Amino acid sequence: MIKEEIKKLKKEKDFVILAHYYVDGEVQEIADFVGDSYYLAKTAAETESKNILFAGVLFMGESAKLLNPDKNVYMADITADCPMARMVETEDILRIREKYDDLAVVCYVNSTAEVKALSDICVTSSNALKVLKSLKEKNIFFIPDGNLGKYVSKQIPEKNFIFHNGFCHVHKSIEANLVKKAKEKYPDAIILSHPECTEDVLEISDFVGSTSQIIDYAEKSEIGKFIIYTEMGVFYELSKKNPDKKFYSVGHRQFCPNMKKVSLENVLETLKNPQNEIILSDNIMQKARIPLEKMLETAKQVSL
Ligand code: 13P
Ligand code: SF4
Repeated sequence: MIKEEIKKLKKEKDFVILAHYYVDGEVQEIADFVGDSYYLAKTAAETESKNILFAGVLFMGESAKLLNPDKNVYMADITADCPMARMVETEDILRIREKYDDLAVVCYVNSTAEVKALSDICVTSSNALKVLKSLKEKNIFFIPDGNLGKYVSKQIPEKNFIFHNGFCHVHKSIEANLVKKAKEKYPDAIILSHPECTEDVLEISDFVGSTSQIIDYAEKSEIGKFIIYTEMGVFYELSKKNPDKKFYSVGHRQFCPNMKKVSLENVLETLKNPQNEIILSDNIMQKARIPLEKMLETAKQVSL
């Protein structure tokens, strides 16, 4: 009933619903587009609907607004925010800019619009390696995710990385000892991890990739059992696409409380009474869209 009402209203009011793989399966089911943060940014930039309803966290809605400024962008829950996005201070960026020449400030898309406005280019977990490889600068200040930064830096030894100490609390809670226990329990399963996991977990993983890349890998693989180290929302798409394969987690810890604030109820409420609109100042709009657009342009050229 609620799903039918959502479908009817979004059509009537010219809304497109974009959802991240970490929101509840029932919300993914009513969305028009579901994906990782790179796919969602690209889709937001291209949509023709007058209104975008974002089922995800705030930085994703902000990116949609920056990339498609003429559209109205609403959050299903405006308090759904990624804590990592707030771990960088503008002073951190200014300090490093003063210290280094030949520097690119590379900003993970999980960051505020204010931080993007001070950055040179954005990356997501699926395009970070290719975007970074395309940069001519020798010194890279990678903000805010230290784990993703270290993971990609190992594959680009020719660059000098300066890391920030930001992290995702959800991925950090997947400790290596839990991974080892899961591997003992399911010895014939292979480990697929998100690059926001800590270095020791990534080292014992068989494949590292964004949410979409993990889903693609599992679908194409001939193997039938996987241990998944990212937020539990991905299990919805994994199981939908691969009903005969088995997916295991380490349990309750793989849970992003902010993504889980999105519900069918607040999606419906937003459609009925659109209130949680993303509003950014003209100054931020002008500056913060540049690194995002550069990312889309670069990622397109290197054909991801
Ligand atoms: P993806 O880019 O893989 O969708 O990841 C987004 C995110 O928030 C991971 O925690
Ligand atoms: Fe942020 Fe981590 Fe939640 Fe992703 S899973 S939105 S990085 S807190």
